[in-house]
Amino acid sequence: MCGIVGYVGEQQALEVVLGGLRRLEYRGYDSAGVAILSGSDLLVERKAGKLANLEKAISEKELAGTLGIGHTRWATHGPPTDRNAHPHQDCAGKVAVVHNGTIENFEVLVRGLEERGHARRSDTDTEVVAHLVEERYDGDLAATVRSICKDLEGSFVLVVAHQDEPDLVVAARRNLPLVIGLGDGENFVGSDVTAFIAHTREARAVDQDQVVEVRRSGVVVTDLGGTVVDGETYHVDWDTAAAEKGGHEFFMLKEIEEQPAAVRETLGGRMQEDGLLHLDELSMSDDDIRQIEQVVIIACGSSYHSGLVGKYAIERWCRLPVQVEMASEFRYRDPVVGRSTLVIAISQSGETADTLEALRHARAQKAWVLAVTNTVGSTVSREADAVFYTRGGPEVAVASTKAVMAQLAAVYVVGLYLAQVRGTRDTDEVRAHLADLLEMPDLIQEVLDRMGPVRQLARELQDAERVLFLGRHVGYPMALEGALKLKELAYISAEGFPAGEIKHGPIALIEEGTPVVVLAPRHALQAKLVNNVQEVRARGARTIVIATDGDESVTPYADTVIRIPDTKSLLTPLLTIVPMQVLSAEIARARGLDVDQPRNLAKSVTVE
Ligand code: AGP
Repeated sequence: MCGIVGYVGEQQALEVVLGGLRRLEYRGYDSAGVAILSGSDLLVERKAGKLANLEKAISEKELAGTLGIGHTRWATHGPPTDRNAHPHQDCAGKVAVVHNGTIENFEVLVRGLEERGHARRSDTDTEVVAHLVEERYDGDLAATVRSICKDLEGSFVLVVAHQDEPDLVVAARRNLPLVIGLGDGENFVGSDVTAFIAHTREARAVDQDQVVEVRRSGVVVTDLGGTVVDGETYHVDWDTAAAEKGGHEFFMLKEIEEQPAAVRETLGGRMQEDGLLHLDELSMSDDDIRQIEQVVIIACGSSYHSGLVGKYAIERWCRLPVQVEMASEFRYRDPVVGRSTLVIAISQSGETADTLEALRHARAQKAWVLAVTNTVGSTVSREADAVFYTRGGPEVAVASTKAVMAQLAAVYVVGLYLAQVRGTRDTDEVRAHLADLLEMPDLIQEVLDRMGPVRQLARELQDAERVLFLGRHVGYPMALEGALKLKELAYISAEGFPAGEIKHGPIALIEEGTPVVVLAPRHALQAKLVNNVQEVRARGARTIVIATDGDESVTPYADTVIRIPDTKSLLTPLLTIVPMQVLSAEIARARGLDVDQPRNLAKSVTVE
C-alpha cells in the first residue's frame, strides 16, 4: 500500500506533490520520489528512506513546473533502495510512472520487453509499465494506458506522466483505491483524499478498471474501452487526521476494513498460468523441500496464533510434523533442529527481538529459515535464508489485524506449496484449495458488512470483567487471538481455550453472565462444540457463538449468534477472526480507550 499523488494546475507542482506525500507517508515510507514536467523536460528525483531524505536531496535542485506526480513506497517487489524507488521511467526517460499494487504477470511482460531491447533498471514490477508506454505511445497517452491495463493482471493504481503531454496526467485503477480531486484550473489524483485535501474538498471516486485523464481544464474518466463514464462528485468533510484514517476514528478500524485487500495482495502474483503455486521467494529447490523432515514455526503474539493455524494446514496437506513455538522460549529449551528442519519465523514488523534471536539460534543449528514478514528490508527478512512477504501494507495500529490476516493467507500458501512440491496433494487438489483461497477476500468483505450487531454487542459487553473464548481445531488458535485482542485493546481479562479443555478446570471461571465466545463454524467437531456451548450456558454463561450461515444446531443455546459465510473448515480463521477484532476494538472505543495506542504496548517489541 503506497502513497500516490498526481497534479496538473497553475501552482508549482513540486510543493503540491510533496505536501500530498507528507500526508500520505503513513501509507508507506521506505522510499519516495517525484517527477515534475519542467518546460519540456520530465525531471525525476527519488530516494530510499523517509520522505525527508527526498526533500533533502531536491532542496538544492530546480524542479519548477506545474505538472507532477509523486510516490511514497511500501515495498513489495524489490528492496527499498534508490533504484527501486518510484517514479520509474522508460529507456528514453520520457515517461514517468508511479504505482501501488502488484502486477502479477510482470515477469512475462519483462521477458518480452527485454527481448525487444528494453533495458530494465530496477527490481520492481512497476517499471514494465513505463517501457510499455514507451512502446505504445502514439500521441494519445490515455489510449496508451487503456491498452496497457488490458494486458496487466493483478491489482494496481497507476499514475503516468509523459514529456510530450504538458497538460495531462493519466491514472488507472484495479482493486486498489484511487480518488480524484477537483479544483479550479487545477486537478488532482491520489491514493486517498489526504493527497489533495489541502487544496480541494471536491472529490470523485474512481471505479474498477477506469482510466482518468487529468487536465487543468477538467477531468475525463473512461472505461478500458474508451467510453466516457459518469461519476458522483462528493464533498470531503473529514479533517486531515480523519482522512488519513479513511474517515474512521482509529487506524485499527480502517485496517480491519483493509483485510480483503491484504489477503488479495498476499495471494496475488504467486500462482502461475497453470493455476499452481510459484514461490521462487522460498529459495528452496524441490529436492530441499522434499528433504524436510520437520517444520518448526517461531513467533510471538498474534503472529504465534497465525503460526498455530499454519500447523493444522501444513500437517494436513504435507503430512509433516509441525511444532509451533513461542519465540521467547524456543532457544532456551535447546531445541532439536538441524538441516532437515524448515523453520518458519513469522513477524509483521520483522524486528521482534524474541523472534530474531530464535531465528539466529535456528540458523546456527543449520536449519533452513524462511521468514514470513510484512516489512521489506526488516532485520528478520535480511537474516533469514528466504523471505515470503505478506502484502498487508503498513499497519499503524499496535493491535495487529490486517497483518495477521495476511499471515494466515501466507501460511496457507506456503503449506500448499510444500504439499504441491512434495506431492502429498495432487495438482487438482492444490488448484481446488487455491480456488477456495481466492474466494476468501470476498467472503471476508461479506463478514465486514455484517458487523452492525457486533458493534451493538460491544456496547453491551463494555463493562465485562472476564471473557472466555473457546474453539476447536483451527478455532483454538483463533480463540487465543480473540482473547489477546480483548486483553490488549480493552484491558479486560480474557482467555482462549481449546473447547475440549473447558471441563478440565476453566469452567470453574464461569459465573452468571460471564460472556463466553465460542467459535463454532460448520465443522466435523460441530456436535462437540454444541455440547460445549450447552455446558457453559448451563452454568450461567452468556453465550456468543460465531456460526456458519444456515447452521441452526447452536441456535437454541446461543444468546447471540454471529453469522459467517460457509467455507472450507480449514480456512474459517480468515472469517472468524473478523468479528473478534471488531468486538474488541468497539469495546475499547466504548470504554473511551485509545484503540490505536493501547497502554504499555509497542508496535514492535525490539527488546527481549
Ligand atoms: C498483536 O496484536 C500484538 N500487537 C503483538 O502480539 C504482536 O503480534 C507481537 O508483538 C509480534 O509482533 P511481530 O509480528 O511484529 O513480530
